[in-house]
Amino acid sequence: MHNNRTTITQFIIEEQRHIEGATGDFTSLLNDVVTACKVISNLVNHGALIGVLGAAGTENVQGEDQKKMDVISNDVFLKTNEWSGHLAAMASEEMDEIYHIPSQYPRGKYLLTFDPLDGSSNIDVNVSVGTIFSILRCKGDCKHPTAQDFLQAGTEQVCAGYALYGPSTMMVLTTGKGVNGFTLDQNIGEFILTHPNMSIPEETSEFAINASNSRHWEAPVKRYVDECLAGKEGARGRDFNMRWVASMVAEVHRILTRGGVFMYPVDEKMKAKGGEGKLRLMYEANPMSFIVEQAGGASTTGRERIMELQPKELHQRVPVVLGSKKEVELITSYHND
Ligand code: AHG
Ligand code: MN
Ligand code: MN
Repeated sequence: MHNNRTTITQFIIEEQRHIEGATGDFTSLLNDVVTACKVISNLVNHGALIGVLGAAGTENVQGEDQKKMDVISNDVFLKTNEWSGHLAAMASEEMDEIYHIPSQYPRGKYLLTFDPLDGSSNIDVNVSVGTIFSILRCKGDCKHPTAQDFLQAGTEQVCAGYALYGPSTMMVLTTGKGVNGFTLDQNIGEFILTHPNMSIPEETSEFAINASNSRHWEAPVKRYVDECLAGKEGARGRDFNMRWVASMVAEVHRILTRGGVFMYPVDEKMKAKGGEGKLRLMYEANPMSFIVEQAGGASTTGRERIMELQPKELHQRVPVVLGSKKEVELITSYHND
């Protein structure tokens, strides 16, 4: 039985064979990304035993307190990916500026963006965290890349994926031909294809939103959630269930597994401060939207398709409504009413 198992490397190489002119650069890059996630998984698993929990005592560019593991996983991603010769530059939630490939290494034709540890407020309480990444082509001068080269719409992504460090470690990937999930076999150190062709049920009765912000919500969000809460007796005519893990990776994974809708909308409090949302377009919203759409779901800001937004800056934030198609369409129609 073990001989029939498909490793993630085998899966990527077999996919590459169907792409005319593929050189193997992308396959090799993706292998390094997978390795970085295995290293982070190992660190997260060992937790307090190796002293990686707790605060780093620093702030990132968005003014958020960094956990030790935010900083460590960022470093793991940089070091595991900088040497290969496949990348022109990298950008991350935890770095103000883009990361230039050190001069001793060759520069390649891809750009990598990542959220090295998503849901990091969960790390100290031993709840699921993850890593999100997105791969773009460098279309400008790949020898001298700038932040501007990263500002491509989500529809331009070559690949997007996440690793989920939960009861088991999983990697979920898309290269635009559906979504596949792999589970890390810790004994052999390989991700094995366990969830081929993941797809999100069109309808759902489960929603995820941080309800502590409800007094700040815009009217369409309030309307939608009120109707869910009214259950059988209300406009929807059925009861809804609610979940909030505070880790987008875990929420998206639940939605890919059993359906649902996840919202981090813009609210009046954010707008008063000139904000446009909480989640970051380049390394959270775009990669997750690519995965969700490839699994048959939908992803909008409440008003527009996220993947079609023209990014204005690297650390741009956007409102997010994603998950089961019919539900996302309903919420979007409430915004456009
Ligand atoms: P990060 O840990 O990378 O900063 O991301 C956390 C994000 C997202 O994953 C999660 O859905 C949301 O922030 C949690 O927000 P609340 O703190 O409002 O629950
Ligand atoms: Mn995050
Ligand atoms: Mn993060």
